[in-house]
Amino acid sequence: MRALRTYPILGAAIAQLVAGVVVIALRLALHGVIDAGTLFWVSLALQSAGAALVTKLIGLPVWWVWISLGFPPAMALALHAGELPAWPFGVAFLLLYLVFSNTARERVPLYLSNSQTTEALLSLMRQRGGTRFTDLGSGLGGVVRRLDGEGRIACGVESAPMVWLVSALMSKLTGRGRIARQDIWAADISGEDIVYVFLSPEPMPALYRKAMGEMKPGSLLVSNSFAVPDVEADEIWELPDRRKTRLFLYEMKGGAAPA
Ligand SMILES: C[S@@+](CC[C@H](N)C(=O)[O-])C[C@H]1O[C@@H](n2cnc3c(N)ncnc32)[C@H](O)[C@@H]1O
Repeated sequence: MRALRTYPILGAAIAQLVAGVVVIALRLALHGVIDAGTLFWVSLALQSAGAALVTKLIGLPVWWVWISLGFPPAMALALHAGELPAWPFGVAFLLLYLVFSNTARERVPLYLSNSQTTEALLSLMRQRGGTRFTDLGSGLGGVVRRLDGEGRIACGVESAPMVWLVSALMSKLTGRGRIARQDIWAADISGEDIVYVFLSPEPMPALYRKAMGEMKPGSLLVSNSFAVPDVEADEIWELPDRRKTRLFLYEMKGGAAPA
């Protein structure tokens, strides 16, 4: 199970295989009983639903469940495309790359903080009288735009090209916050009162080392959902939203970054 969570594509492939075996058995059982067209649609629905179910049972993150669900129809479409031109597939691939380029590289997909989380971050900034806030991996920039203003300077750092472009434009249009097209590892976070991240388990150890090495004493690293392994958070906020969002708060003590 651990290997499947480390290499989720393996788990997704196994899920398609398991569903495939069930579909083959069903097709053999129903051959000649229902017409070929109906059998095709039943098989496709079962392949999608079965693969999504197995993906969920394996315990992969929810976006893999959606991928498992969508993969069979996408394959069926591609295989039955016939004389369709190839360019729409190329454009779709390019768009997906421009939006989700960090998913493969950093294992961080695009999902957004909800409004309860944004309000909790705002009240944290107010409580601490903070004036500088950075969202590392700022997505569409909603958190940055909400926290900027009333004397606070909020910045976002985003490297996925399309996501950066949309969020930078929205910041320009609303006059709230600033989004840099930058890699989070190159961002200067030395002057921030709060650095917020909503990434994945993968980068958390290195991110904590970066925060400890760069952030000033008394400042906070706040991670949505993903704790730093083997480091006890100074506070954990559980929010009253549907997904029971947990914010892990790490106060910077000053001193050397852990090795
Ligand atoms: C889960 S989303 C969170 C978006 C936003 N912080 C929010 O809470 O609504 C993570 C974002 O981090 C970005 N990201 C991942 N790795 C990155 C990196 N190395 N440099 C810059 N951005 C990165 C992704 O492109 C994605 O937009």
